[in-house]
Amino acid sequence: MPKLSVNIDHVATIREARGTHYPEPVAAAQIVELAGAYGVTIHRREDQRHIKDRDVALIQDSISIPFTLEMALTEEMIDIAIERRPNLITAVPEKREELTTEGGLDIVGNRKQVEASLNKLHDAGLSVSLFIEPEPELMQAAADLGVSHVELHTGLYSLAETPEDFQRELHRIMRALEKTIELGLKANVGHGLHYGNTTTLARLEGIDTFHTGHSIVARAVLVGLDRAVRDMVILCRGNLE
Ligand code: PXP
Repeated sequence: MPKLSVNIDHVATIREARGTHYPEPVAAAQIVELAGAYGVTIHRREDQRHIKDRDVALIQDSISIPFTLEMALTEEMIDIAIERRPNLITAVPEKREELTTEGGLDIVGNRKQVEASLNKLHDAGLSVSLFIEPEPELMQAAADLGVSHVELHTGLYSLAETPEDFQRELHRIMRALEKTIELGLKANVGHGLHYGNTTTLARLEGIDTFHTGHSIVARAVLVGLDRAVRDMVILCRGNLE
């Protein structure tokens, strides 16, 4: 059965929008664990604009479920990963100006650089997943690079607006999954997945873990708003402080 690792970057995004101390991503990580998720995922970006080094340390030290660190394959991040030793590293491309990760890693065009980075991480005994487009030849390229995991980029699947687009993207993912099974790679999936498009993937063979964040935090705002308003209504009445 596929598992769920919850990406809680979006909690940090809300915190950073105001520069406050709340909401604390580490508190969210503990709720994720209590709620029964398999793991917690965070993306420590080069500019630390959402998740900061303190969050990485606090979260990793406060949970007992698997911790996935998404990161660009930069020297700084490789050093941090070797020091922090997450359960899984998901290597992602990173552009400073993007709102979120926009495409899979180009492991063919950047093969040499990716290989050099993987060597350092593998030498340190770390497990690495490559976030790549769901294409069979990229699964082969990932296997040739010696990784244990891939993460299939589900961005286009999630953005599909017509039934034709949805079917096309679903079939791309299915073909890529078949290849991962053939190659013995563990296949994670992530990006843009939500409450309306997860079950279809969950019924396919070969998915190890869903890495989902935005839709879960977005839903939390709505399902939690009623309680949050009630709590503030009581404070406004001066009944409690
Ligand atoms: N997987 C990867 C590699 C990502 O970069 C992200 C976004 O940080 C996710 C999964 C989660 O995507 P979303 O927040 O859209 O669910």
